[in-house]
Amino acid sequence: MGEWQRKHLLGLKDLSREEIEVILNSAQAFKEVSEREVKKVPALRGKTVVNLFFEPSTRTKTSFELAAKRLSADVVNFSSSGSSLFKGETILDTLKNIEAYSVDIFVLRHSVSGVAFYLSQRTTSSVVNAGDGQNEHPTQALLDMFTVREKLGSLENLKVAIIGDIYHSRVARSNIWGFSKFSSSVYVCAPKTLIPKYFDNLPCKITYSLKTALSQAQVVIMLRIQKERMKERFFSSQREYVKYYSLNEENLKFLPPEALVLHPGPVNWDIEIASSLKEKVSNLILEQVSNGLAVRMAVLYLLAEKRSYEVID
Ligand code: CP
Repeated sequence: MGEWQRKHLLGLKDLSREEIEVILNSAQAFKEVSEREVKKVPALRGKTVVNLFFEPSTRTKTSFELAAKRLSADVVNFSSSGSSLFKGETILDTLKNIEAYSVDIFVLRHSVSGVAFYLSQRTTSSVVNAGDGQNEHPTQALLDMFTVREKLGSLENLKVAIIGDIYHSRVARSNIWGFSKFSSSVYVCAPKTLIPKYFDNLPCKITYSLKTALSQAQVVIMLRIQKERMKERFFSSQREYVKYYSLNEENLKFLPPEALVLHPGPVNWDIEIASSLKEKVSNLILEQVSNGLAVRMAVLYLLAEKRSYEVID
């Protein structure tokens, strides 16, 4: 197993396959901690983790908080509402002021692509990107990959279909970078208006046909239609979108029966996935959520370990 050398986790684009494996192997060990009666280890005792969330979140925020607590770190949850941002303080000044409390790791979610990188260049703390605009959401892709590896035993040479609102999805980008590093073929599928032109240059294949995407896929990642980010119309009607791109009983026949159906959540039932499939797909979607905790424990642990070496050096 390789060693973790990075100060920050900003995305999967720049990680090697070996670095992804270090995180996934470490997450495997941490998954066992959450299955114990006492779900706590002292690995991050004396460390401080601050969750800086400038956008709503249920899964990511909760699991980072729980991950830090299960590692025995001190955790602060900063919420932009009610903060001095409303008095005009910049995000950098906000971070610098909180950093003054000797913070080890900032976990950052923001609506603007590139903010995690921008702040990582200006802080002595480590930064974990918990989703920045339409750029990357590395820990979501890592938990998706962890779930797939656990179920299929490997991430190699798979056909992975990512279907839905590709345009606004940081999850799609992180999964494209992640799975392609294991020689898997990643297909993105959506109406043409929901696939930006620059996807031609990413390591993925583009299709507008759900049948083509589903056929012979081992993994399907259904993506949420991000209505809150749509300032213009991307398809003529929801009914039309559902007809061609929703996963339902009828088009499920194109998918091999053993294929895994994932969704990062929250799910818009009857838009991305028919509610008649709820019973069939919900267990795995909730397993993704549980695995997110192990993956985030691994990420916090590896970043904190790296910081400790730096202090010793
Ligand atoms: N998948 C995901 O990022 O969910 P949250 O927005 O609830 O964190």
